[in-house]
Order: sequence, then structure tokens, then C-alpha cells
Amino acid sequence: MQSQPFHSRASLTAFGTYVPEQVLDNAGMERLVETSDEWIVQRTGIHERRIAASTEFCSDLCFAAVRNMQERYNCDLSDVDFILVATSSPDTYFPSMAARIQGEFGIAQCGAADIQAACAGFVTALQLANGLLLTGAHRKILVVGAETLSKITDYTDRTSCILFGDGAGAALLEQSAEGCILGSFVSTTGAGGHHLYRSSLAPAINGHPIKMNGKMVQNGREVYKWAVSQLPQGIAALLARCNYSVEDLDWFVPHSANMRIVESVCEKSGISLGKTLTSVADYGNTSAASIPLSLDLALQAQRIRRGDLVLLYGFGGGLTEAALLMRWTL
Ligand code: UT7
Repeated sequence: MQSQPFHSRASLTAFGTYVPEQVLDNAGMERLVETSDEWIVQRTGIHERRIAASTEFCSDLCFAAVRNMQERYNCDLSDVDFILVATSSPDTYFPSMAARIQGEFGIAQCGAADIQAACAGFVTALQLANGLLLTGAHRKILVVGAETLSKITDYTDRTSCILFGDGAGAALLEQSAEGCILGSFVSTTGAGGHHLYRSSLAPAINGHPIKMNGKMVQNGREVYKWAVSQLPQGIAALLARCNYSVEDLDWFVPHSANMRIVESVCEKSGISLGKTLTSVADYGNTSAASIPLSLDLALQAQRIRRGDLVLLYGFGGGLTEAALLMRWTL
């Protein structure tokens, strides 16, 4: 693939996360469905997940992640001029979670919108924020990925309920002369949309009848096959477009869907697991929150450093993919 010029005005200036207190470990899962710690760990790499309290909703997780960011980076949010929230499990479709953040933090003058791109949502929101900064119309954008998947998980379906957990991450992108985003990649396989969905109004996707229970439904095997065949191509395409190779990467941060998917993609792409950041063992699959949670585990362990070359790769319902190559600027 030919290299193409890519423009960025975005600099990452602050970062924060939040996970609910309640832990649901595999022993707890064994009490809910016919499963075992051994099966879950072997097939997914998950040991535990966090579950929001019955009174705690997506907006609360968003607020907590933003507050965590403020505490850690002492950042001023009064001049944020756009808020983007990636989520598949908002408390309400409207008002958006982004509008709720605006209200909670009393940000005087800013746009607000939620992004629906499932597990590719956080990276998609970063891509959109980069574009908004590039136009010059916006200077400071708050991007949040937040999920309360436990509220839309079907706990009678043992093949999927063992995967999901709750959490949130927030990032502040500000205009700077030297942008930190070096390139991006997107791809969509809409024909496979019925393999992973949450129903709302229509009883079919692509002509396939779907379960109308308002919960997440997944054909795990199909999504698994799709992910392990798509990601190596996407990684190679993005790196070639930016004139980098896998050897140049300091960190690969795939969506933490399942450790087996991550291992297979790393093997096919020639990326060492030692350079790969995940949150799946501690938090399960947290969809739009998984990439920020993985980044934060590494930040807390002082593994990521300013200047590191980082490849983020979200993928999931849609079926959607969104990847981004960036220099870490914190
Ligand atoms: O975040 C969005 C993207 N999502 C993903 O990337 C998820 C992709 N898919 C997956 O992660 C995996 O497909 C799963 C973890 C969901 C399932 O793993 P699998 O290795 O694909 O299992 P399977 O569905 O092929 O089932 C294998 C066996 C079956 O038994 P038989 O038919 O071989 O006798 C299942 O009934 O495992 C059985 N099984 C379980 N056994 C114990 C399925 N779920 C469980 C369970 N505990 N929880």
C-alpha cells in the first residue's frame, strides 16, 4: 500500500479511568451459569470483571473517569469545546452521555455527541476528534469510552456472559502544532452485523431474524474467525501507510475481547506479546472502555513513556474496525 500524507493537530494531554468496585470473578461466574474457572481462563484469559452497582449507570462511570483525569493531570475543562463519548450501553439514548458530562462539569460552550461503533468506539472517537482539531474549529476535545455491559448482558447465555464487564476511560486531546496521531485505519464488514448485536426496534439484521430481548447476542465463533483474519491485514495496512514496521512499535493495544484472539493476531502479525497491552484478565471485555483501561494499567505500571510509538486497534459489533498509530505525549 502506498504511503499517504496524514495530518494531525492532536496532542494527548490528560488521561483517566474508572472501574466499579464490585468484582465478579470466575468463581462467581460458576455460581451463575454452568461453567468453570479452567474453561474461562483457557478460552478467554479472563479472571475477573467489574460490575456496576444497580444504582450506577454509564453516565456515572463517565463522570468518575473524567474526575480521575482531572485529579491526575490537574486539567482545566472549562475550555473544552467538544465532548465525544463512545458507548453501547448508555443510560439513555438521549440526552447523550456527552451532554450529561457537559452538564455535570458545567462546561460553558461545547458540542456533545455519543458515538456508536461498539468495541471500535474509543478509537473511532479519537479519529473523529483528530479531524475536528484539524479543521481548526475546535481546540480541546474530551473523548470518553464507557460501558455498563453488565446491564445488557444475558446471564442465561454462558458462551457470552462470561466475557463482559464494566469500566470507563477518558482522554483529553488538544490542538498542538505537532500532532501525535501518525495515521489511522478503518474497515467495516456490515454483512456480518447479525453475528454481534443488541436489539432495539427491528426484528432482523441483514434479513436474519434476531433475538428481541434488548441484551447483547453474539455468535462467538463467527466473530472470533472474523477478528483473527481481519486484524493482521489492518495492522499491516496501517503500518505500511505510515512507513513503519512492527519492529518500530513500542506498544500494541488491541481491544481486549479475548486473550486467544490477541495471541493469534500477535503471532500472525509478528508482534511480541511482551509489547502488547491488555486489560482482559482483570476487567474482561469492556468494549469501548477496554483500550483506555489497558493503557492505564500500563501507565500505572510506568511501562508507557512519552514518545513511545503506540498502535491502538478496536474491533467488534458492526462489524467495525478502527486503528490508530500515535506517539504517546503524556
Ligand atoms: O468484543 C467484541 C468482539 N467479540 C469477540 O471478539 C468474541 C469472539 N469470540 C470468543 O471470544 C469465543 O468465541 C468465545 C469465548 C465466546 C467462545 O469460545 P469458543 O472457543 O469459540 O467456544 P465455542 O462457542 O466454540 O464452544 C466450545 C465448547 C462448546 O461445547 P461443545 O459443543 O464443544 O461440547 C460449548 O458448549 O465450549 C462450550 N462452552 C462452555 N463451556 C463452559 C461455551 N461456553 C462455555 C462456558 N463454560 N462458559
